Amino acid sequence: DRGALVDRFGRVATDLRVSLTDKCNLRCTYCMPEEGLDWMPRAQQLTDDEVKRLVRVAVSHLGVTEVRFTGGEPLVRRGLVDIVAATAGLPQRPRVSLTTNGIGLQRMAVPLREAGLHRVNVSLDTLNPQRFQDLTRRDRHADVLSGMRAAADAGLTPVKINAVLMRGVNDDEAPALLRFALDHGYELRFIEQMPLDAQHGWDRHAMVTAEEILTSLAAFDLRPDPVSRGTAPAETWLVPGHRGADGSPARVGVIGSVTRPFCGDCDRTRLTADGQVRNCLFATEESDLRGLIRRGCSDSAVADAWRVATLGKRAGHGIDDPAFLQPARPMSAIGG
Ligand code: GTP
Ligand code: 5AD
Ligand code: SF4
Repeated sequence: DRGALVDRFGRVATDLRVSLTDKCNLRCTYCMPEEGLDWMPRAQQLTDDEVKRLVRVAVSHLGVTEVRFTGGEPLVRRGLVDIVAATAGLPQRPRVSLTTNGIGLQRMAVPLREAGLHRVNVSLDTLNPQRFQDLTRRDRHADVLSGMRAAADAGLTPVKINAVLMRGVNDDEAPALLRFALDHGYELRFIEQMPLDAQHGWDRHAMVTAEEILTSLAAFDLRPDPVSRGTAPAETWLVPGHRGADGSPARVGVIGSVTRPFCGDCDRTRLTADGQVRNCLFATEESDLRGLIRRGCSDSAVADAWRVATLGKRAGHGIDDPAFLQPARPMSAIGG
């Protein structure tokens, strides 16, 4: 039963994204309301052992080669280091990474590295502490910066920065964010905002497009990256005159999910913190693996259910479709 996760369009999912919690210690305005959300009941959340088992099934039965842990905020999950260690210790040696808001990384970077984590992506939308507080409703800007530094020092590299630009909020900061990343040897990516917020407040006109972002970076004289993007969401450019932390040419990326979709090359499958497989960020249906394992199903039955779930994957996200409906689950409970 070694078949891979192949969909009807021939795409193969080798990149598993695992959400470890729907909770977060920030309240980014584009993600969730000030009061937070109705968090997932504990009994519905996968235990550490259940997460480890499903990750093992994905890696050893389904050909998954990359495992990304996300949230909410994955660093608030108690068992994280143990889950990372179990994943990195699998005989197939998957690549293991984390997408985090950075809070707590200062303390966790070394233990995570020792557990076998390869790299991290850290979200940072502004260099201005007051603006950070307005955007995230928390006064934690310094913690994010020190977390990034600690990750780089611990060798969790390349450290990539994710920045979501919003019109009239932080869209004046693209050049400053890039200068900051270049100065510190981080790889910056700008992200088009997607309709996945809990408040359903996404507005196409408020979204800063990939094209606008590139225009605002004109002074950097960006050059097309000769290295193919492969299945990566980010299109990258070289920044002439700058080097990354490892001495390679410095790069900047744009994740243009809305105006430059990359669904045709998607290699992702997702597992939510309550054990549901989603074949797409924008999937409207999920498959209940938690139910299967709690009923005592074998690994190969779980693997079969995951393959079936993959067959239902749609061609694209459908954001431009007049009948588009945002998924019921918000980004914070899907895991980006
Ligand atoms: P790297 O492999 O480290 O470059 O990571 P990544 O860019 O794939 O993932 P990351 O978790 O840093 O996410 C960056 C942005 O890409 C976030 O806004 C994600 O929601 C978005 N993203 C991740 N996967 C997908 C996807 O399958 N489809 C779309 N449309 N966006 C995605
Ligand atoms: N659209 C695009 N990116 C988003 N993120 C959070 N919400 C959205 C959205 N609606 C980003 C976060 C983080 C990453 C996991 O996803 O800023 O960097
Ligand atoms: Fe937390 Fe990420 Fe949502 Fe911000 S975008 S509130 S960091 S889950």
